[in-house]
Amino acid sequence: MMTITSDLDYKTRPNNYELNHIPGTKGLPLIGNALPFIKDMLADSRGRVEKFGKVSRIVIADQTGLLVVGADNFKTIMIDRDNNFSNEMAYAQQLGAFYRGGLLLLDFDEHRMQRRIMQQAFKFSTMKHYMEPLNERFRDSLINWPKDTELKFYFEIKKVLLDIGSKIFLGEKEFTQESEMVNQAFSDVSGGLGSVLRFNLIGTKFHRGLQGKSALADYVARKIPHRRAGDGEDVLSHMCRERTEKGEFFSDKEIIQHTTFLLFAAHDTTTSVLSHMVMYVGSRPEYQNRLRQECLALGTDELSYEDLDKLPEFEHCFEEVLRLHPPVPMSMRRTIRETILGGHAIPPDTLLFMPTCYNQRDPEYWADPDVFDPSRFSEPRNEQKNHSFCYHPFGGGAHKCIGMHFALMLSKCFIFHLLRNFEVSTPPDYAPVLDWVPIPKPSDGVPIRLKAINSST
Ligand code: HEM
Repeated sequence: MMTITSDLDYKTRPNNYELNHIPGTKGLPLIGNALPFIKDMLADSRGRVEKFGKVSRIVIADQTGLLVVGADNFKTIMIDRDNNFSNEMAYAQQLGAFYRGGLLLLDFDEHRMQRRIMQQAFKFSTMKHYMEPLNERFRDSLINWPKDTELKFYFEIKKVLLDIGSKIFLGEKEFTQESEMVNQAFSDVSGGLGSVLRFNLIGTKFHRGLQGKSALADYVARKIPHRRAGDGEDVLSHMCRERTEKGEFFSDKEIIQHTTFLLFAAHDTTTSVLSHMVMYVGSRPEYQNRLRQECLALGTDELSYEDLDKLPEFEHCFEEVLRLHPPVPMSMRRTIRETILGGHAIPPDTLLFMPTCYNQRDPEYWADPDVFDPSRFSEPRNEQKNHSFCYHPFGGGAHKCIGMHFALMLSKCFIFHLLRNFEVSTPPDYAPVLDWVPIPKPSDGVPIRLKAINSST
């Protein structure tokens, strides 16, 4: 018998575990089905669909819920016409300790209101101001990276993107000791998020993560009066100055929650997509040269905001990398009331695990789905249009990524500076093991060599 519950108290109710009417498995004691899912989310999801269909019962460590795939199911959940799916209750356990109040963890009216204000920092007229620091930082870093010797791209770009975050998101002009502290605190939070043991005990990653969270919060709090009084074009300054419809500022608490969440949402995702792009272009010299010619054809050594639309070949590469290796490998939701998905009645308060990779490689919509083929995104193929939810690396509906255009702009700017100045090569027959969790990336950090091709470098 399904329990009838009032919608209003959904935030006070525990997760529903009564899912035996839906096919699936319990897995091993304590860890459930976590191991095969974490090891290869795509293969595991495909295997489950074959055995159980597009909705199946799954246990991931201490969370029992449903694995949901399929473009139609994603459309129902992400568009969520009847407010049936909660983000806050879905992400509370994974992200709540560090990012409670972050935009992704808000529901419905509260989410809409906060998102409207935050969007000011990502409208086109504001984004133009981000081009200069992007050009400057990418150009300077690439000049300083070692040439004709192996470097691990993933670790190098991670550092550069942290530094960019401190300029564009936090408004820091120079790299100081304080920036170093912020970067360390940010890394500690990431470590805490990934830790399996979630006890606040001194010496654990989780504890260090919580300390990092406090250090970041103190830092942002110290900056708020200065950013509010100034005329900075960084994201934090915008959030400090924007007002609600009632003419009120975001509270300090909201600014801290939004800023720290934005840093998190922007950093690993852009590191992931650039690492996979370099993995592909580094092992395909001819393709790399085509992208290089597109960059050189712009006839400029700085990418302007107006140039961004003139790199179609790059865009297809970016789209294809996001299709094969979505940086947010899985979304989550929790049902609020009984819902039908894939023909099953799903009880209220059920966790939904939604791996992005399955739909983006579903042979129903994609030709040779596991093959890297950027031209599938160009005319006349346009495979991404086969279903409105066969391609969703940035999510969809009310929570669609707010930083989507920024991520594209940043990636274009980096690849522009890289390819117009250097040949990039990975080792011969390069085929690294690919991690899915916590963030998709080549597990070896992408070893590359850079060779200067422009006399000015
Ligand atoms: C390639 C890079 C990126 C990818 C693939 C990506 C992907 C996503 C996805 C899939 C979601 C929705 C998750 C869900 O519905 O459960 C999301 C939300 C979000 N992303 Fe991104 N993201 C990227 C870069 C960025 C950047 C650069 C920023 C900030 C500048 C950012 C800020 C956010 C925020 C604030 C949300 C929450 C939006 C909301 O709940 O309304 N992301 N992102």
